[in-house]
Amino acid sequence: MNSPINRYLKTINDVEERIKVLEKNNLKNLVNNHNYRNIPYQNWCNYQEGFSTKLLDWFLDYKNINAKELMFLDPFCGSGASLVSAKLNEFRSIGIDINPFSYLLSKVKLDFYSEDELRIIEGFNLPKYKEIKNVYEKYEFSMVERIFSKENFTKIELIKNSIGKITNIKSQEFLKVALVSSLESCSNYKKGGNGLKKRKKTCEIDFYELFTSKKNQMILDKKKLNKKTAFKLINGNIKDLDVLVENNSIDISFFSPPYPNCFDYFEIYKIELWIGEFITSYSQLRNLRKSAFTSNLNANLNQNVSIDDSNSRSKILFNTLLLLQEKDLWNKNIPKMLNLYFSEMNEFLNSLYQKMKFGGTIGIVIGNSSYGGIPILSDLIVSEISEKVGFKVDQIIVARNNETASQQYKKINNLIKYVRESIVVLVK
Ligand SMILES: C[S@@+](CC[C@H](N)C(=O)[O-])C[C@H]1O[C@@H](n2cnc3c(N)ncnc32)[C@H](O)[C@@H]1O
Repeated sequence: MNSPINRYLKTINDVEERIKVLEKNNLKNLVNNHNYRNIPYQNWCNYQEGFSTKLLDWFLDYKNINAKELMFLDPFCGSGASLVSAKLNEFRSIGIDINPFSYLLSKVKLDFYSEDELRIIEGFNLPKYKEIKNVYEKYEFSMVERIFSKENFTKIELIKNSIGKITNIKSQEFLKVALVSSLESCSNYKKGGNGLKKRKKTCEIDFYELFTSKKNQMILDKKKLNKKTAFKLINGNIKDLDVLVENNSIDISFFSPPYPNCFDYFEIYKIELWIGEFITSYSQLRNLRKSAFTSNLNANLNQNVSIDDSNSRSKILFNTLLLLQEKDLWNKNIPKMLNLYFSEMNEFLNSLYQKMKFGGTIGIVIGNSSYGGIPILSDLIVSEISEKVGFKVDQIIVARNNETASQQYKKINNLIKYVRESIVVLVK
């Protein structure tokens, strides 16, 4: 009776008895950015793991939040989906992301563009095609020759040079986002799973055409929703949240942190990061990986954390880690990664608590994963940690249940219901 699996199930049961868990399967499309490719702003860039701009709208409606001028925070803003919605709801906002490409993408979405700035962008002329000697050579990025045809890569470099000559910084940033967001569609690779996958056929799309249509589409979106609202965007690390955001200043925070599912954001965005020249060396890429949230095996696992530390934060986590000790996992570092992930989550939630106003509401969109046939119940673990930090856990809304019956999940049997994506709702 007192076996590790029974203790694990009991701790889950204990938390579920205290915390309301509701299923809202109508949300399953909103937690997935792919279903909203036709929505203005959402369609600028294929941001894997992003959610829809309409998810925050749904949440505000659901929680009956309709005051204007509230102070909003997304500490993991990614492609800026929630920030765009916050802007349309006339909130003041703060967005943070460690990825310099995400930062710029969000900034261009939020910035107000004057008629003059839009005119400069509209009047941008494609440079006349001419060959560039040793076009690939300036990049340390070893894959570059395999990713683009020589003609397309030359076009990318020619456009980049022309953008660099524009003196108006905001217009320059807009065009840079158009360029970087067009890269994947004309490359021989595409984002898939946890990395870049080679396309079956080499890409034959012309980069000049792709860039022009992306730029025109972005201009149309900007003209439709070009509001002046106060916002602050930070290309920084949430480990510095204490100094980045004022205490007791935030009314609403809605965000999706990296999930502990081994997804490496720097691997998946490496085309954008290198070709956009957000990074110029492998050591910069390594530094980014090592300073981001420990949600994958390329992160900084060289930190001390013991299994006993987890016990004080979350009983479910502690019992999950004990169970994993008995399993033959595909990588022996998985338990350590999970323990570090939730230890960082604990620090982050402590700091976020300080930033929230009393009565302030938080929605955390988080996905549960599974290793060795054991579901990692991130939604319940985050709830347990949040309670210890001082938040009230209002409810957990299950937005999407796992729909795949893949090999990976065969071992899970009836625990499959826990492999899901949820919104954890907290109140300070
Ligand atoms: C799940 S994504 C957020 C997606 C976003 N909600 C959207 O709709 O586009 C998580 C984000 O956290 C960022 N991130 C990871 N570690 C971070 C850290 N330590 N500080 C700030 N941002 C971080 C990643 O770059 C990624 O953009």
